[in-house]
Parts: sequence; C-alpha cells; structure tokens
Amino acid sequence: MTVKLDTATARMPVLAAIRREFGEVAPLNGHRIALCGHVTAETAVQVRTLLALGAEIVWCASSTTTTDEEIAAAMRRDGVVVHGKRGMSDADLARGAHEVLSVWPEGPTLVLDEGAVLITALHRDFAHLPAPVLATEKTPDGLAALAGVGPLRFPVIKSDESFGKDAVDNPHGTAQSLVETIATVSARLLAGKVFVVAGHGRVGSGVAQKARGLGARVVVTEVSATKALLAVLNGYEVLPMREAARIGDFFCTVTGKPGVIGRDDLLAMKSGAVLANGGHLPWEIDQEALSALATGRRELAPGLEELTLSNGNTVELLGGGHIVNLSAGRGNASEVMDVTFASQVLALQLVLPKAADLAPGLHALPPECDEYVAAALAKALGIQLDEK
Ligand SMILES: NC(=O)c1ccc[n+]([C@@H]2O[C@H](COP(=O)([O-])OP(=O)(O)OC[C@H]3O[C@@H](n4cnc5c(N)ncnc54)[C@H](O)[C@@H]3O)[C@@H](O)[C@H]2O)c1
Repeated sequence: MTVKLDTATARMPVLAAIRREFGEVAPLNGHRIALCGHVTAETAVQVRTLLALGAEIVWCASSTTTTDEEIAAAMRRDGVVVHGKRGMSDADLARGAHEVLSVWPEGPTLVLDEGAVLITALHRDFAHLPAPVLATEKTPDGLAALAGVGPLRFPVIKSDESFGKDAVDNPHGTAQSLVETIATVSARLLAGKVFVVAGHGRVGSGVAQKARGLGARVVVTEVSATKALLAVLNGYEVLPMREAARIGDFFCTVTGKPGVIGRDDLLAMKSGAVLANGGHLPWEIDQEALSALATGRRELAPGLEELTLSNGNTVELLGGGHIVNLSAGRGNASEVMDVTFASQVLALQLVLPKAADLAPGLHALPPECDEYVAAALAKALGIQLDEK
C-alpha cells in the first residue's frame, strides 16, 4: 500500500460499499478482465475492487502522459500485470493494449475500456480470439470510435452514459480539476479575463460555470445548436472559434473532436494566450500546426511551455496539449472517480447474469446502477431522504 493508494481507498466509499456487499459472493469469480485506463491511484482502487469480486485482471494505460509510476509499481508488487509508463511513445501505448490481449490464450471474458482501444483491437488484430461475454466503454470519444469498427461481435455497455458521468464526474469533478489545473499551472488570475471554452457538453458546461465562479468572462464555442442555445441561456457569449481566438486570454478544449483550435486560430490569438486541452485525446489543439508555427519553445514551469509563433506572438501550452488535469495537474478527485468506476463495476455485475441474452452491440447501463451509485454516494455524504 502506498500513501496515495491508501488515501484514494479511504475517499472512494461507493467502491467500498460494493466490496462490502458483494465481496463474499464474488460474482466475478473465474472471469478474466482486460482493462484499459489511466494508471492512477483511483483506477488501482477499482482494480482492487474487481480482484475482491473474484476476477483476474490485466491493465494497460490509456494515455502516454498520465501513468503514475508509483501506483504502477505498487500494483505490480501485488502481482497485477500493468503496461504503462509516463512519457511512453504512442507505439508503446498501442503495444501495451496488444500485450494485455495476448496474456490469456482464450482472451479476456470481460473488457473495461477507455477510448475503445481494446474493443477495437478485439475486432481487428485479435478477431481470432473468442468474443468476450461483455465489455464497457467509459468515454464519448470511445463510443464515437465504435461506430467505425463495424458490427460489434459482443455486447458493450455504454458506461459513459451514467448518472455518475452526467451529473457528478464531468460537470463537477472534471470541470473543477480542469479549471484549477489551468489556474495553478499557468499561475494566472482568471478574474476579469476572457476564458474560451470549446464545447458546452457535460464537461464544458461545468468548466464554463467554474471559470465564471472565479470571475472570468466566459465565451463558448459550439457546433451544436441546442448546446449553443443552452450556453446562451446560461448567460455565456457564443462565438465561432475564429472570433473567440482574437479575444481569449485562456482556451480550454473539451469537445472530444480533432482540430478544434487550428492554424489560423493560433495566428489570430493575442500574445500570451494560455492553451489547455481537457479532452481525452491530444488532438483538439492542432499540434502539427502549432509545431509548424513555432519558431522557439521554452519551459516556463513544469507542465507549462511558451511557444513563440512565426508572427512574433507567444502562446503558453499546458501539459503539451494532452489531457491537462491528468498530465499537468493532480487529476480528478478520488471521490469523483469513485462514482464513475462504481458504475462500471456494477454494470459488469448486474448485466453479467443476463449477458448471454444480450445481442452484440451497444447497450444502455441498467437504471439500477445509477440508483445504487446515487444511494451509496448520498449515504456517504450524509444526505437524508424522506420516505417515498
Ligand atoms: N479531463 C478529464 O479528466 C475528462 C473527464 C471526462 C471526460 N473527458 C473528455 O472530455 C471530452 C468531452 O466530454 P463530454 O462528456 O463533455 O462530451 P459531450 O459529448 O457531453 O460534449 C462535447 C461537446 O462538444 C461539442 N463539440 C463537438 N465538436 C466541437 C467543435 N469543433 N467545436 C466546439 N464544440 C464542439 C459537442 O456539440 C458537445 O456539446 C471528451 O474527450 C471526454 O473524453 C475528460
């Protein structure tokens, strides 16, 4: 046990409730789980919960920049196979996914995925393996990527679409950790500044709210009319990125889509603009365009790089354009990840007994998962309810 793992365990009451309630029955006994996820203390608590429920687990990192080496070492000491190293290459990341799928000759029976990495591989290079009984996907990017995989050969639960992600993790936990990372790493005052948020979805609406709470003047960019309208009704200005680029002091992308800040936007920015990506993949700020425009780069502080552009202006890039709260900050609070990870674990447990009847393809999380998670969290927070 490390202090970090100890602390995370104490701050994750919903997973603790699951271990207490289902540990003896061990509903995952005999299952082989392949897990793709950030190598953090919180994921380690989820892994330990799955082990306590009887499963065997192999784990690969879901990002090149977010592995906590101390946690990886602690889990390896416990005998868990973990593929991940902070600063690994994209090729090593892909190799890690392939290695976890090669551990068992008959492949995994269950898959917990992030970014659809393992599910995609099970339809391509590992299509010869027997289909797992069940999988879950926890990101919108991953669910979107699955559309390009073709017909799925096993059921996949959309654990991204849960009460925990919709109401707790994305708009509160992630949004708080993004805004605090941006403020802390840039060491700038937000009050009175123009803070541009690309995307007014679950994370973006929370980022806008938290940045406004610190006194920033928030501008939203969107491609969806409904989300743009919601942003206006929430009191924010909505502009195309090209116009927002001219006035922004801070930029935070949270769309899950590539090239949201492109070459011409970078050239339109004020000197000293701060750029951060909160999306899962490092593609929302066009890295190729940024590198091509950069005539000089220097590190101002850990996680904060100043780039001089060909027009003489500078921009400050946080976390190298990678998911900023995990690459340059301390990440999401354990109590938030508790809710998200508990939904995934419950999805496996509750769906597994009827998985044989599920058609291959995408399926919603059973409503009982949300009820269980909300009730356990309310109890942990000391919220008292009236009788129905
Ligand atoms: N940093 C973290 O810890 C963390 C946590 C959760 C999710 N995420 C990531 O954050 C991203 C957003 O997640 P979400 O749950 O808010 O998704 P979401 O689907 O709820 O919201 C995305 C929003 O972006 C908008 N959008 C799409 N393309 C756009 C563009 N070119 N310009 C402006 N807006 C655009 C969409 O219309 C949508 O409203 C994803 O990549 C997700 O994986 C990161």
